[in-house]
Amino acid sequence: MNSKEFLKEHAVYQIYPISFCDSNGDGKGDLRGIISKLDYLKDLGIRILWLSPIYKSPMFDMGYDIADYRNINPIFGTMEDFDELLAEVNKRGMKLVMDLVVNHTSDQHPWFQEALKNPQSKYRDYYVFRKGRKDKKGNYTYPNNWTSNFTGPAWEKVPGEEGMYYLHIFSKQQPDLNWHNPAVLKEVEDIMAFWMDKGVYGFRCDVISEIYKESYEDGKKASPFAPVGVEHYVATQGNHEILQKIQKDVVEPRGGVLIGECGGPITTEDGKKYEENGELDTFFEFDIANLNPSLLSMKIPPKKLKEAIIRWQTEVDWNGNYLENHDQHRVFNRYVYGKDELMGAKMLLTLQYTLRGTPFIYQGQEFASHDYPKPLRIEECTDCVTKATYQIARGYHLPKKLSLRLAHRYGREDERAPMAFDNESPDFGFSSNPKAKPWQPYNPLSQKYNAKDALKNSQSVLSFFKKINALREEKQVFTYGSISFLESPEDVLVYTRETKEAKALVVLNLSNKKRKIPESLSYYKDKKLLLENYSEESKILRPYEALVFLL
Ligand code: GLC
Repeated sequence: MNSKEFLKEHAVYQIYPISFCDSNGDGKGDLRGIISKLDYLKDLGIRILWLSPIYKSPMFDMGYDIADYRNINPIFGTMEDFDELLAEVNKRGMKLVMDLVVNHTSDQHPWFQEALKNPQSKYRDYYVFRKGRKDKKGNYTYPNNWTSNFTGPAWEKVPGEEGMYYLHIFSKQQPDLNWHNPAVLKEVEDIMAFWMDKGVYGFRCDVISEIYKESYEDGKKASPFAPVGVEHYVATQGNHEILQKIQKDVVEPRGGVLIGECGGPITTEDGKKYEENGELDTFFEFDIANLNPSLLSMKIPPKKLKEAIIRWQTEVDWNGNYLENHDQHRVFNRYVYGKDELMGAKMLLTLQYTLRGTPFIYQGQEFASHDYPKPLRIEECTDCVTKATYQIARGYHLPKKLSLRLAHRYGREDERAPMAFDNESPDFGFSSNPKAKPWQPYNPLSQKYNAKDALKNSQSVLSFFKKINALREEKQVFTYGSISFLESPEDVLVYTRETKEAKALVVLNLSNKKRKIPESLSYYKDKKLLLENYSEESKILRPYEALVFLL
């Protein structure tokens, strides 16, 4: 099997290192902690691991602000620990994907520090420095009207240089790199080669659709969920060309893969281009994650979910199928809710694993990790987006309680709680020191949702996870089969997967209500049932029922 097929045939499991497993008892996860859990992951059937950033970083954005691309953050360990982790991963027949954050560096990166200190240095052109415009009173103001993905203007004043600004489409601690400068491309290619030559399988490329700014003209306000300016930098021609070059120069010769995080949001047309030109081996789009535009509620109506899935599956060949990650809340109260939510979790796993594309699973998703039962106090929050949202809400004089709810809705605390390997100690098996103060509070719901309990229970979400992961590995129809959607009631999703040798049918009730089985579909009842989330038979589709047949 070649390396590109490996990514098609196996799901990817995302590890958020600071919250995964703490081996040295400081309340923060680390590389040795990950090594100690590799057998757990192997037993789940996982073959590809993706690590969120572990490089040296001031951690303003939890590692998505890199200060040294070739060194390990001491919080996580040393390069020797990394080499051992990689060797242990490979020994188990698994592969390791690293996060690559190259839209921006940390403002602490020596390149940026040098660019600030010495405007004549070559590093000045590694970033986007621009003179501001003058307002009516003759005072300098921002070079354009762009806003940042993390709220507020996308420009920050350069200290000590009148009227000079630098661009940051995320926080001001994350200055954007200038991808018009070929030296930046060369640096990034060298960094990638450095890790791949160690044996890393590939990269999950952070906000990769946004790196190449085509122009610095004013933007129009697109939607309340997109920052101003996106039309000048999302999925530009330059972006496509850079990715083609990186694949050709670095990734393909080393038998690796590129997974793109494509915010913006991108359209299905953009997605098609990324795959048709072999630029990205798979990618994450944001339509499905952002289906609910309501200010406070996170609930996604099944009908909307169905429509978005059909659109992406029909128009694009190979989606990265994800529902949770370190930026997205857990699925509960979003895609599934109510008393049958655990059936819902199994149904969603069935969806992720039987759609065409690579399934991406986020740590803890396998045993139904939940968001915190109530919002953390603002003093306990660690995420820069949570804190910025809270400040803005308070700035508008919203009451504290409402501000906190909004901050949690848009912030990223819930999904980053420490992993729960068991419920036998106060740290839920996360740390070697149960008394250590975790970097972010434990989730009390871990008492109920943890790996150890779930492993003992044959009806648990985790037991179902193992089954469906194994099913996809065993039956190639779920990898290589074409997909066709069949007529069905509005919140039921029915599709077939088909290769020359086999045909499968998937029936998913996306709603928490009972639904009739469409007459036209009743023929499948005598076919071989490969997997179901309920155990006894029924004449109707029960809430969140999932059925997979071999035809
Ligand atoms: C991506 C990361 C997110 C980070 C942002 C800026 O969306 O997933 O965690 O904050 O990029 O790097």
